[in-house]
Amino acid sequence: MRAPAVFGPRGPLSGTARLPGDKSISHRALILATLAVGTSRISGLNEGEDVAATAAALRALGVRIERESGGWAVTGVGLGTLLQPPAPLDCGNSGTTARLLMGLIASHPIRAELIGDASLSRRPMASLAAPLRRLGARIDGDRLPLAIEGSAPAIPMTHRLNTPSAQVKSALLLAGLNTRGVTTVISPAATRDHLERMLPLFGLEVAIDGLAVRLRGEPELKPCTIAVPGDASAAAFLAVAATIVPGSAIELPGVGVNPGRIGWIEALREMGADISLSNQREESAEPVADLIIRHAPLSAIDLAPGRVPGLIDEIPILAIAAAGARGTSRQRGLAALRDKESDRIATTAAGLAAIGVRAEIEDDDLIVHGIGEAPFAGGATVAAEGDHRIAMAFAVAGLHGLAPLTVDDMTAVSTSFPGFAAALDGLAGA
Ligand code: S3P
Repeated sequence: MRAPAVFGPRGPLSGTARLPGDKSISHRALILATLAVGTSRISGLNEGEDVAATAAALRALGVRIERESGGWAVTGVGLGTLLQPPAPLDCGNSGTTARLLMGLIASHPIRAELIGDASLSRRPMASLAAPLRRLGARIDGDRLPLAIEGSAPAIPMTHRLNTPSAQVKSALLLAGLNTRGVTTVISPAATRDHLERMLPLFGLEVAIDGLAVRLRGEPELKPCTIAVPGDASAAAFLAVAATIVPGSAIELPGVGVNPGRIGWIEALREMGADISLSNQREESAEPVADLIIRHAPLSAIDLAPGRVPGLIDEIPILAIAAAGARGTSRQRGLAALRDKESDRIATTAAGLAAIGVRAEIEDDDLIVHGIGEAPFAGGATVAAEGDHRIAMAFAVAGLHGLAPLTVDDMTAVSTSFPGFAAALDGLAGA
């Protein structure tokens, strides 16, 4: 059932918002806790549907995951002892769930069927399935639904990725955990390194040499305690809202500021945004800070393709910032965005056109003709195409419209940021 919602101007944003736990870190914490023998404790876990899909799949593989005061307790079964799941593993809308599970299962002697929703079933899995087949797994398709039969023993290998992908890198490293010998993954460009940072907390040292990550399989993973920081990608929506709505000043405490995740902060600052980081600290091997964002006029940006992996999920909301900037922005080399929850180049451009902002697609570049500080026309209905980040990006645009706009369906937002509308209401004093 669709859940359309109207977003209109409500005046300056102020106050403090709580963010959901980092989604990428949450998936990885649950999976590593599964592979440790004993009980790990995770606080701040993202409680959206994507991470819930990972938790449900892990339970079907034999793990106990229970809510307790202050967080979640995960009682792991240890490497090599995952159970054969009794039914297909439903990954919902979550590419991270599907890919990380494929890596996990690839080196275990079990067979599982992975299913997902219509969006996930369209997304290509070949760039992961191919290396997993080489290490011994049998995979009967390159898109969901697919069946995967792991191989134990699996073959320790060096994988050279053709395109940067943290999901593929992490999946291959997870496959390497239950593989005797050394697994190496070499990326063509840096991507988020949450798994590499987290493995030592479970007792496994990882060797990092430039873009190569190397681990020795069959370690004894020890349970640990993890505090998941606030999600930097979720923070980007609220930060752009405060930046474009005149008079705003907000604080976002406890945001993960891993260098692989804050490309959007750097881009917005180059455009003129007023974002400061305070109280910088490290929690569970991840850098964390409180963000303070004040309204500021923006100017256009020309974003080079090499910067895309560092802000891969923030392109739609950066496009909203570009729409509210002076001048023409170009975001280059966005091919990877075509294979996200929607074709984000197309859905972003279509949404901008609907709210009265000129945007063009040239090959894999998105060009946005900013209108400066004036409000967007609004008044239109934007199609979210089942994509949480498109829905949230245009909800933010609605706050700076002459007339309210409608996002045709906000349902997908619960995959990553179930409290998004409440967070906006809190900041806008509704
Ligand atoms: C993710 C990596 C990114 C990102 C996705 C989550 C992860 O995908 O788009 O939302 O948790 O590893 P890539 O595989 O393109 O890096």
